[in-house]
Amino acid sequence: MTPQIFITKLIPEAGLELLRNDFELEINSEDRVLKPKELIKGLQGKCALLCQLADRINAGIMDSNKELKIISNYAVGYDNIDIAAATQRKIIVTNTPGVLTETTADLAWALIMSVSRRIVEGDKFIRAGKFKVWSPMLLLGGDIHKKTLGIIGLGRIGEAVARRAAGFSMKIIYVDKQAKEEVVGPTGARSVSLKQLLQESDFVSLHVSLSAETKHLIGEPELRLMKKTAYLVNTSRGPVVDERVLAKALKEQWIAGAGLDVYEKEPEVNSGLLELDNVVLLPHLGSASFETRSLMARIAAQNILTTLRGETSPHIVNPEALKD
Ligand code: DGY
Repeated sequence: MTPQIFITKLIPEAGLELLRNDFELEINSEDRVLKPKELIKGLQGKCALLCQLADRINAGIMDSNKELKIISNYAVGYDNIDIAAATQRKIIVTNTPGVLTETTADLAWALIMSVSRRIVEGDKFIRAGKFKVWSPMLLLGGDIHKKTLGIIGLGRIGEAVARRAAGFSMKIIYVDKQAKEEVVGPTGARSVSLKQLLQESDFVSLHVSLSAETKHLIGEPELRLMKKTAYLVNTSRGPVVDERVLAKALKEQWIAGAGLDVYEKEPEVNSGLLELDNVVLLPHLGSASFETRSLMARIAAQNILTTLRGETSPHIVNPEALKD
């Protein structure tokens, strides 16, 4: 019998074509997150699962199919999967790192520019027929060039965001638990404490993965430390920011604005944020370019092929699962 793979949402053909010859693919075509019982049903008889960051893959789901060999996550982040449970069950978990670094950094910059130069507000203004005359006081925003960019999490994406700041002659400061260097490479990013970063930055951009340690890393005390003229940008994971407090901070103008691509209870967005003009909201588009989503699809497919051939994928996130 042809081995089968369950794919929880349609991905670009570039990945599917790698699998079609050797596998039977069951692809959920509905545009919504599958319920646990639907995931369990879909997994029946499958040796591999290709899932999305919105699918919560816990021990119960894993236990519903003893034949499951690999969970290939179509994302670099894998906080949606219970890694310890997968490791215990010797199920390989893989992700798609590297290929989305530059695209996500581009989007962080799109948010930096949109929120500080009021791009979305300007667009709405025109469409509402309000542009009657050029005005010296119309939609003034904050400058970007020569300002201070604070990067929280100087990993691949954080570093790519920092690199782009060179063109704007920005000063870059960063916080990263793992970074050992005081000043990092060509960006000249300087290591500071979180408190100093929040107090000094004109733009704070978040690039940490979600863990117990980073949940609500940005809450009331942190937002109160930021300058009134500063902007917060989050392209990492929603729960890194206390969204309810952020809505309050933006409404009461503790900070000037925010650009968000991710949300605490995705796809829900705090209703307070929806009413505000000083926040730009995107539906988790960090890696959403044609090129990058196709590359992610290829890697997610290759991760499955490699693992089922008995080889070790370079993108395995739980190598402990290979140990006897
Ligand atoms: C990821 O890969 O983790 C992003 O959030 C979506 O591409």
